[in-house]
Amino acid sequence: MKQLKLLYAGKAKSVYRTENPGELVIKFRDDITAFDGQKKDTLAEKGHLNAGVSAFFFGLLEKNGINTHLIRKIDDTTMLAHHLAMIPLEVIVRNIAAGSMVKNYPVEKGTPLNPPVIVIDFKDDTRHDPMLNDDLIYALKLASPEELHELKRIALEVNTVLREYLAGRGIDLVDFKLEFGKKDGVIYVGDEISMDSMRLWDKKTGESLDKDVYRTGQGDVITQYHHVASRIMAEE
Ligand code: TYD
Repeated sequence: MKQLKLLYAGKAKSVYRTENPGELVIKFRDDITAFDGQKKDTLAEKGHLNAGVSAFFFGLLEKNGINTHLIRKIDDTTMLAHHLAMIPLEVIVRNIAAGSMVKNYPVEKGTPLNPPVIVIDFKDDTRHDPMLNDDLIYALKLASPEELHELKRIALEVNTVLREYLAGRGIDLVDFKLEFGKKDGVIYVGDEISMDSMRLWDKKTGESLDKDVYRTGQGDVITQYHHVASRIMAEE
């Protein structure tokens, strides 16, 4: 696989063109950030742990009939993916109140949310990713009503698949963030699904198994990522 020009470097991944305009190489770097990029570190092994878990979850979604951008893993830290026209939305699904929901609204951390709550942010770092609503999404022409309906439907389907799978591993899926893109009129789940983009709590102890370990500075992030990755990907 000949890797060509860098197309885009985000906070934790770099995206390269390939000789095929329909395909991209995504490299998961060892960088980690939080609080809108204010806290930053480089942690050895983080790239391969997140690439591994992301590819695993994308594979699980594909098995359940959900389109994802993953074509295949290339090596420990890189994957070959469909080149999507990304939709600049962060679609967050919440099963249990935590994070910004608890900070911004009068709800106690740990409150079950039934049905799950979908929150959609505008992916725009310069504006600090403000929250949107359906009317704003249409007014800004970020998605049509049909597309938004489809994004929410897929997000809830992803939630059902991941939540059931993780429950089988003794893990609560508290919340997670998805990004979507389009290719030939079809919507795909893109970006990543990893410990950086979800909250996972151990069902027995309530312990955080995700980026909150880094956000709160409690414990060794990489040890925790190793532990949760092997729990997620272990053979039954
Ligand atoms: P949220 O509680 O809204 O924000 P924060 O992580 O800043 O407390 O996050 C909900 C979930 O979505 C959480 O699992 C982290 C993930 N997420 C991202 O991966 N990227 C983002 O930019 C945001 C806002 C959330």
